[in-house]
Amino acid sequence: MYESDPEILLEARHISKQFPGVLALNDVGFKVYAGKVNAIVGENGAGKSTLMNILSGVYSDYQGEVLLCGRPVSFSGTADAQRQGIAMIHQELNLVPYLSIAQNIFLGREPLNALGLIDFPQMKRDTVDLLERLHFDESPEKLVIDLRPGQQQIVEIAKALSLQAKVLIMDEPTSSLSEKEAGILFRLIRELTENGVGVVYITHKMNEISLLADYVTVLRDGCFIEACPMEQTSVDELVRKMVGRERKDFFIKRQHRLGECLLAVKDLCLRDPLREGKYRLKDISFEVYAGQVLGIYGLMGAGRTELMEALFGLYGKQVEGRVFVKGRQVKFNNTNAAVAEGLALIPEDRKTEGLVLDMSIEQNTTLASLKNFLKHGLLSFKKERATVEEMRSKLEIKSYSGLQLASQLSGGNQQKVVLSKWLLTKPGIVLLDEPTRGIDIHSKNEIYKLMDDLAGQGMALVVVSSELPEIMAVSDKIICLCEGRLSGRFERDEFSEEALLKAALPDKA
Ligand SMILES: Nc1ncnc2c1ncn2[C@@H]1O[C@H](COP(=O)(O)OP(=O)(O)OP(=O)(O)O)[C@@H](O)[C@H]1O
Ligand SMILES: [Mg+2]
Repeated sequence: MYESDPEILLEARHISKQFPGVLALNDVGFKVYAGKVNAIVGENGAGKSTLMNILSGVYSDYQGEVLLCGRPVSFSGTADAQRQGIAMIHQELNLVPYLSIAQNIFLGREPLNALGLIDFPQMKRDTVDLLERLHFDESPEKLVIDLRPGQQQIVEIAKALSLQAKVLIMDEPTSSLSEKEAGILFRLIRELTENGVGVVYITHKMNEISLLADYVTVLRDGCFIEACPMEQTSVDELVRKMVGRERKDFFIKRQHRLGECLLAVKDLCLRDPLREGKYRLKDISFEVYAGQVLGIYGLMGAGRTELMEALFGLYGKQVEGRVFVKGRQVKFNNTNAAVAEGLALIPEDRKTEGLVLDMSIEQNTTLASLKNFLKHGLLSFKKERATVEEMRSKLEIKSYSGLQLASQLSGGNQQKVVLSKWLLTKPGIVLLDEPTRGIDIHSKNEIYKLMDDLAGQGMALVVVSSELPEIMAVSDKIICLCEGRLSGRFERDEFSEEALLKAALPDKA
């Protein structure tokens, strides 16, 4: 009944990949069809990124066979794979912070002029074209370090696009994009597939799977579970296959008894250092009580991250307005002052700001709370280990031991380590910026429960999330930001996706 399958551009057969202590892939097969979106789903640590790293030339030591247009190949590295038409947008950003957008895009393959020198005007024109396709309005000369994670992700996408690959692998490309930017990416994906490109798409967002996928492959614990056209399956069925067990109950928020007002913000403003007389945040006021979760919703660039950073003392004296902790006015001119008042910030960009890659899970987890493990001035390893083990099992951090290095964990499991680290500091006021980015649906629920427990213990939580269902599930009340201003306040019984989105969108007619 079905039209015969389209041409296979790239195929993995019987791939196994062993890391010290883990068999990351065990006899896995995967096909990339031309002109289709080929999705891969699976929980954190299932082996998705590892498989893609093999197909894009990152790893060359594996068992099994890779075929490109039916012919066996082995790539000597990523440059070799790129020459043969395979490009990958990595889950973790790989940009050089102190180079410009254009330099990053063309790094190592800069266009040359007749004299054999780098043709900067050409490079700039090509960059402008690429950025235009992505509706990204920045100068090609801007340094990558001055971009937010979402904007950096767009540069990664531009870089991959510039390779004009036959197979384009995207490993969680929307994890830090706004809904609008994700929409632009989806249109671009359609354009690419119409031109015969085989797109490989990895995501934890199941709505993206139903929207985009033509074919879908399920991996679980390094094993191939199934592959089929999306029209022959459903999201529920996929989730069941990913988890391999019945799905746990959905998270249901509890109502906690509210204590005192832990954090009150009055008319907070943040000046824009680049534009005279302009503000990045203007007249923001809110209160959070012990036992309460305040959600902050807004589109990217609305000022959500700036608000968290301003509260945490990262902008020092540029912040105007008043902040009260337990009714007492405070001034956070630096982060130490904020920490001393019991604040913790779990930042958006956890790879650079949250994790020491060549330390173990155990060391990373207790890094910020070591004083809690001192006994007569000595570190109690027993207590430390027991605590880490508890977090490791609660959050299901996939690893063979607490001594495993953070660099050897899958993306989602790294996020879980950073979360554990800050939660162990037992802050009074926790600021969480996109706490479940890159985390699979199963573990998301665990993190929601953990946040709910913290509120139950009398902490006040402020959570930024761009996922509407998430922010509505975890918050007691929500404020919306739009272009640096407060554009809506909602109590729990007033939550609806439409109302929140409407408040977050600029130019409301
Ligand atoms: N460099 C490495 N050294 C040792 N083990 C590794 C390394 N990279 C990955 N692993 C392990 O291989 C397994 C598969 O990891 P992989 O990154 O492929 O998962 P994933 O499906 O991409 O997960 P996520 O959704 O969290 O990104 C995990 O158990 C991980 O800890
Ligand atoms: Mg991954």
